Order: sequence, then structure tokens, then C-alpha cells
Amino acid sequence: MNDQPLRGRLVLLGVTGSIAAYKGAELLRELTRAGAEVQVMMSQAATHFLGPLTMEALSGRPVMLDPLELQSDSRIGHIVAADSADAILVAPATARWLGAMATGLANDIITATCLASSAPVVVAPAMDGDMYVHPATSANVARLREFGYTVVDPDTGSLASGQHGIGRLVPLPQLVQAVVQAVADRPIREPDPAARPPRAEPRRHDLADMHIVVSAGGNAEPIDAVRYVGNRSSGKMGMAIAQAALGRGARVTLVKGTTTVAPPAGALVVEAETAAEMRTAVLDALPGADALIMAAAVADFRPLERTAAKLERSEGLSLRLEPTSDILAEAASLARAGGEGPTRRPVMVGFAAEAGSLERAPEKAARKGVDLLVANDVAEPGSGFGSDTNRVTIIVPGSEPEPWPQLPKSEVAERLLDRVAALRAGRSAE
Ligand code: CTP
Repeated sequence: MNDQPLRGRLVLLGVTGSIAAYKGAELLRELTRAGAEVQVMMSQAATHFLGPLTMEALSGRPVMLDPLELQSDSRIGHIVAADSADAILVAPATARWLGAMATGLANDIITATCLASSAPVVVAPAMDGDMYVHPATSANVARLREFGYTVVDPDTGSLASGQHGIGRLVPLPQLVQAVVQAVADRPIREPDPAARPPRAEPRRHDLADMHIVVSAGGNAEPIDAVRYVGNRSSGKMGMAIAQAALGRGARVTLVKGTTTVAPPAGALVVEAETAAEMRTAVLDALPGADALIMAAAVADFRPLERTAAKLERSEGLSLRLEPTSDILAEAASLARAGGEGPTRRPVMVGFAAEAGSLERAPEKAARKGVDLLVANDVAEPGSGFGSDTNRVTIIVPGSEPEPWPQLPKSEVAERLLDRVAALRAGRSAE
């Protein structure tokens, strides 16, 4: 028996935002074990259940998240994927996705790719039982079958809601089998790496002689012995930058505020809970550094007085706040005034979390004296606090703003480090 029935095939695995998305990583492994090369595509909702980083590491290819995204060679990612795929497996498929596909509404990467592809499509719905038997869902499933898609009906059993019914994703080997059947009478095409979506580039060691200072997370400004004023920064963006820089050989000082994620191994971690501690840590680390990347959401205000004891609720509380000092602006001005000369001056990178519009970002970049500002709209889904993805716009004073597509934070980090390295190299050459 052929234990690698998918050898030579490129399978696009589309994961949408059902709870069963957590099984996506194992499904990817099963497809790989069956010999397939896999390109993962995820809807925005799926990234809440499964990290794109996991899927990138397991597949060796950057995960595709955005139909507007171009490949590094400027070709349109989903068209390249659609044209080179031998099969598309959408698992799990949500009720929303079935509806979008049934009506050809190409507003996510997976529907856009299916529309553009002549490859066989296998769809595995997974959802709550009542949702699956609703006439709308049944009509959408029937429509997909009319397209010639294989729809693998979900199993009956216990559901995430705690109920019992139809809606469970079928066992993964069954899905692999459905893909094998879908491609069975199609010739194996000679794999042409140039025609397929690119593999992840091997990690370069291009930052080996750099010392990069990264701040990450938020601040907790004490009110009394137990309470504080804080913000919702998770620290994921800063951690991703530190991780990527370490992977590329840099020495990293991580100035860590309040975060929900652990720092990467290998960084020199300096804990800095308050904005004042963060200021000291950043200014101490700066001399001799090649770059400062202020990804931290530094507290803008702190309570004017801090009470050592715990305040009693019956006393009521009104807080008077005072502004903290602007660490980035101070570091940038110190670096400019420093005796190291313009060629040794560290590259200064700021972040700007804006809500609703990025209009103020260029002025902020100029005011802070940074070389590059990474602006994002935290009000946008899939961007900002707590998210694993980010859609940012790069502002370099004197140049047009450069919007990047929505990307995993790990990929934003890599691209940002490319820019930092280029700025640093340009400066050394001056
Ligand atoms: N920053 C800093 N020190 C502060 C506040 C912010 O170093 N006290 C840094 C952040 O780490 C970020 C950049 O400055 O890299 C922009 O932060 P942001 O909060 O967007 O700017 P603010 O100066 O707070 O401006 P505003 O409150 O008007 O948005």
C-alpha cells in the first residue's frame, strides 16, 4: 500500500474560525505524512484559535492571511497558490465560510483562492448542530456540491457547546483520504518550486554584530499597595521582534514591561514595570547599541501620589495623574547629542498605536525624532493589542507612508528588522 499517496502534490489547507481550528496543526501533520507539500491559508477568525506561527513552522511556508497580499516577488499570492494547487482542503469550514463560498463572496483568502482555482476542493464543515441543520447552511452545502466540491459531512457526537449532535469535524485521516480521492485521477505534475508559493526563507544570521534594545509590553503604575493604572498591551509584538532578532544572531536587550507572553530564551531581560523603570532601563542599555525599538505601550500618565498601604474602598478614590516622560523622544535626542557621531548613532524605531486613523502618525514620527515609526490602527480587527497579526503602516520621515498587508507579528518583526538593518548599514556607509 502507498503510504505517501499525496507525494508530489501541493495541497492548500484553508482553516476557518471554528473551534475545531485547533486541530489544524495535526491535520497539517497528517497531510505532510501522506507526502503532500502544504500551503496554509487562515481566515482572520481562525487565528484566534490557532497561531499562524505554529502553522508556518510545521509547513515551512509563511501562512497566507490576506487576499490583498503580494509575494516578495510582487506576484499576487492567492493567484499563485490557486494556479499551482493540486487540491484545496477547507477544514474546518464555518457556516459563514460556506455562505461566502456559496455566493462567491471573495472577502477572505480562502474563498478568493477557491474562486481562482480549478483544483478539486474538499470541504469539511464543523459547527454547532443547530447551525449545521439550518436551511441556510444546508442550501449552502448543496450549492457547493453543485460546484463539484466534495463536502465531507460532519460527525455526530459531543460538541464544543456541551451539547450532543451533528457538527464535529470528522477524524483527520478521513479528510486526508478525501483529498487522496479528489486528486486520484489527476496526473502528478512535476513540482515546479518557482510556480508554487514561496517557502519560508532560511533564517539568516545577518544581524550577528548588532546589539538591539527592544521594549515590550505595557506599564503598571501603582496607586497603592495592590492597585495600579495599566494598559492592555500583551507584549506580543515586542517579543516577536526580540525573537526574530535573536534568530538572526543579534544580541538583544529586552526591556520588559507587563506582558502576557514570556520572553524568548537568549535575550538579556530587564524587568521594568513602571514607565520610570522603563526609562532607566532603556537609557542604561542605549550606549553602544545599534538600534532601539520601542514596541512598548509606555504609560502616558502615572498617579501623582502612591499610597504605601492599601486604600479602603469606603474612603472613595479620586486619582490625580501626571504625565510620564517620553522615553523615545529623550533617547532619540540623547543619541543625536551623543559623542558617537552620526555613523554610530543607533537606529531609532517607534510604534504608534492609533485608534481610527493614522493621520497623526507622520507628525508623531517627526516630534519623537525617530528614523522609522510603525503605525497601526488598534481599532481594526486583526491588529494591535493581544492579536497574533498586525496590519501596520511604515512611516519614514520625508517619505510616503508605506502600508504593509496584514501579517503574522513574526513576519512584521522580520520585515521591520530588514529595514532596521538597511538603515544601520546605510548609516555606517556614510
Ligand atoms: N513612548 C515613550 N514614552 C512615553 C510614551 C510613548 O517612549 N512616555 C513611545 C512608545 O513606546 C512608542 C511611541 O513612543 O514607540 C509612540 O507612543 P504613543 O503612545 O503612540 O505616543 P504618545 O507620545 O503617547 O502620543 P499620544 O498620546 O498623543 O498618542
